[in-house]
Amino acid sequence: MATSSLDQNKKIPQHIAIIMDGNGRWAQAQGKGRVAGHKAGVDSVRAVVRGARKAGVKALTLFAFSSENWQRPEKEVSVLMDLFMYVLTKEVKRLHKNDIRFQVVGDLSRFSDKLQKSIKKSEQLTANNTGLVLSIAANYGGRWDIANAAKQLASQVQNNEISLDDINEDLLHDQTCLAELSALDLLIRTGGDYRISNFLLWQAAYAEFYFTDVLWPDFNEEQFEQAIDVFDQRERRFGKTGEQINK
Ligand code: IPE
Ligand code: IPE
Ligand code: MG
Repeated sequence: MATSSLDQNKKIPQHIAIIMDGNGRWAQAQGKGRVAGHKAGVDSVRAVVRGARKAGVKALTLFAFSSENWQRPEKEVSVLMDLFMYVLTKEVKRLHKNDIRFQVVGDLSRFSDKLQKSIKKSEQLTANNTGLVLSIAANYGGRWDIANAAKQLASQVQNNEISLDDINEDLLHDQTCLAELSALDLLIRTGGDYRISNFLLWQAAYAEFYFTDVLWPDFNEEQFEQAIDVFDQRERRFGKTGEQINK
């Protein structure tokens, strides 16, 4: 039996990230077009945001569109962009009411001006909220994130703000996305594949991984709680021995 989410002793991951995969297969299984799966997936987003708030998670990061997803059929990409815009305008007020800080991480320069403006507006509206940080990764790639961080450091060296010898893991970390949040504790992937698909490569260094066959539109609050229960059972050793951790 899974322990209740109200269990006082349960370890709650501070920062959870999700690769929301399986929308297309969910739709195809119902004889619908892939787009129907993306639309249905929005309900699962609402469910995990609610679950994260209830459980006391501090940061939730969702992979919505990868830097590789531009390679999909043009029609699917354009529907995804429209859906993103629609959700932004419709849902952000509700996030704000629930004390959620909203932000988008990724290379936003490739999005339309309208979408970029809407993102900025939503980020500004919710900037001072403290209940949960909801980050949406859009046109995000883990390799892009690391290369971009390296570029920032190179520019600081060039401007004599730091010296070459100052560069270390901490300085590079500070230039990566989500650096201001607590370390990634749990990475969930739905949809049955066992890969990271260029998501949070740097940030996932010591995250626990949770893979489930459940397709994203079928993922609900209960399954989210289940993932937290599994996390609670994991022993995180961070390079030490089990004896050192349990003494
Ligand atoms: C994930 O679902 C959503 C995005 C990548 C935007 P998919 O669209 O990848 O669904 P499958 O993997 O084809 O079933
Ligand atoms: C990863 O899913 C990206 C998102 C969930 C947004 P994909 O469906 O694009 O991943 P691959 O290409 O199958 O690995
Ligand atoms: Mg997929």
